[in-house]
Amino acid sequence: EMGGYPHYMLKEIHEQGGVCRATIKGRVHDGKVDLSGELAMDEETIKGFKAIHIVACGTSYYASLIAERVFERWTDLDIKVDIASEYRYRDSKISPDTLVVFVSQSGETADTLAAQRKARESGAYSLAVTNVQGSTLARSCDDFLLLKAGPEIGVAATKTFMGQITSLYLLALYIAKIKGTLSDQKQKELTDEMIQLAYKIETILEREPSIEDLAWKFADYKNFLFLGRGMSFPVALEGALKLKEISYIHAEAYAAGEMKHGPIALIDPNVPVVVVAPKDSLYEKTLSNIQEAKARHAPIIAVGFDGDERLASDADHVLYVPSTLEEFSPFVTVVPLQLFAYHVAKKRGCEIDKPRNLAKSVTVE
Ligand code: M6R
Repeated sequence: EMGGYPHYMLKEIHEQGGVCRATIKGRVHDGKVDLSGELAMDEETIKGFKAIHIVACGTSYYASLIAERVFERWTDLDIKVDIASEYRYRDSKISPDTLVVFVSQSGETADTLAAQRKARESGAYSLAVTNVQGSTLARSCDDFLLLKAGPEIGVAATKTFMGQITSLYLLALYIAKIKGTLSDQKQKELTDEMIQLAYKIETILEREPSIEDLAWKFADYKNFLFLGRGMSFPVALEGALKLKEISYIHAEAYAAGEMKHGPIALIDPNVPVVVVAPKDSLYEKTLSNIQEAKARHAPIIAVGFDGDERLASDADHVLYVPSTLEEFSPFVTVVPLQLFAYHVAKKRGCEIDKPRNLAKSVTVE
């Protein structure tokens, strides 16, 4: 049932192109996203939304942080993203014209369910973005949007993260269409690129042997620092979480611009720095962070776009991914980080699909 793969996690990483494709299928027509046949919310309801809150835990929270950056770029909504175990106890203003989106693979995470009860009491419209149609979350929200990831067995979320970002991007494009905040031409440009992502993801999977080689070189380090800016900051968070969860190596992620505000003190030849550095509008800034880390003799692993030779002259190792529009870079940059974590854990002989102390769904607080 693992389809020839030694672990579910590896199988699920390899399914991600398919997940992206399946999640988009039937939802894009003539350069526009259409979710009207499946969402309960109608156009009037959508036009009335002034704010959006996205609430989740763990990897689902990192997917939400990525979505935050496109919601603020593509729509006119005021956006807030929070961890469910914080949101439920905070005093954020949730009004009836707020759309509250709960992102949960399982739909059974205790804190996410509690946060949903709070939103419901405030009269806001709640939407579940989940992989499980019959889940408690899907049943308690006013509305739901399904990721088409299929069951995920590995405790470390991989393909559901891909399904989540795909679904959240579709939601952002759909809301933008109805609210008229993106031109037809821009919608077409974005949806055309979105359709290409599955192929790009599959190209990265073919490069697995070189990622495995690199993972073997780095499997004995005790601490890692992950850095990224903009769209790549949540990707750094997710890359560090994958490494922590399955290989038990301490990995911290920071917004690259925060390096000087503390973490730079940690850098020395024993702390590899993984930098997510796609060629986007913040690229030059990220490159200067690479140089700062290099000056302190940290081994540098960069994730960058194909053809970016400058990166190769600054970093010790580069994991190349096909280039895409700035907004979509997480779809490609996250994949080598998942594979890196997987192969480090495998080299260390860890129990990859069932890491210690972790459960697939966290149904207690
Ligand atoms: O089922 P959920 O999406 O609500 O789960 C949230 C987190 O527990 C989950 O993403 C966790 O962080 C994973 N182990 C990450 O790999």
